[in-house]
Amino acid sequence: MAQESLTIENLFSQASGCKRCPLGETRQCLVFGEGSQWSGLMMVGEAPGEKEDETGKPFIGRAGKVLDSVLTETGFQREDIFITSVVKCRPPKNRFPKKEEVAACLPILQGQIELIKPRIIVCLGNLATRSLLDEQAKITEVRGKWFNKGGIKIMPTFHPAAVFHDRKKLEAINEDFHQVKEVWENIKRELPILKPQ
Ligand code: URA
Repeated sequence: MAQESLTIENLFSQASGCKRCPLGETRQCLVFGEGSQWSGLMMVGEAPGEKEDETGKPFIGRAGKVLDSVLTETGFQREDIFITSVVKCRPPKNRFPKKEEVAACLPILQGQIELIKPRIIVCLGNLATRSLLDEQAKITEVRGKWFNKGGIKIMPTFHPAAVFHDRKKLEAINEDFHQVKEVWENIKRELPILKPQ
């Protein structure tokens, strides 16, 4: 989807009218993602929920509160990270996105990755991990480990909403984010200016 002169802003405006799958008919807002496109760090979730659909902002509902607490605990500023999801429109009743919906939506995420050129992508949960790393991956096996995909460091971890079913996963997510923070700080030290002047 990304072309030579495409910017993140015009990718957003191209995407905002998307009707490539039925979720385009039921959404209120397409949730493109937000945050810094220059920090080298992206976090990718699953799909927007109710609050995100109402506002167009990623991770502001219950799962977003968990994400915010982990970010604070591990020393990140939310605005330094580009936060998005694999599927940009809310599936009705927050059901798991269908294969066809993921396939229809992936070009937007791929376009974002081409434009942002992140050094690190944190995959929040199974869908992001399977979409960006390996379609057979099991989150319980790969979480907390570093992978390299086309020069991008990938860290899979549990989706913040997984904590609602199992509180112990919060500790695991915190551990994984601590690892990300350490590697990201080193990257920033080597490349102090990622934003073009
Ligand atoms: N879960 C996600 O994966 N993304 C959001 O934006 C909100 C909840």
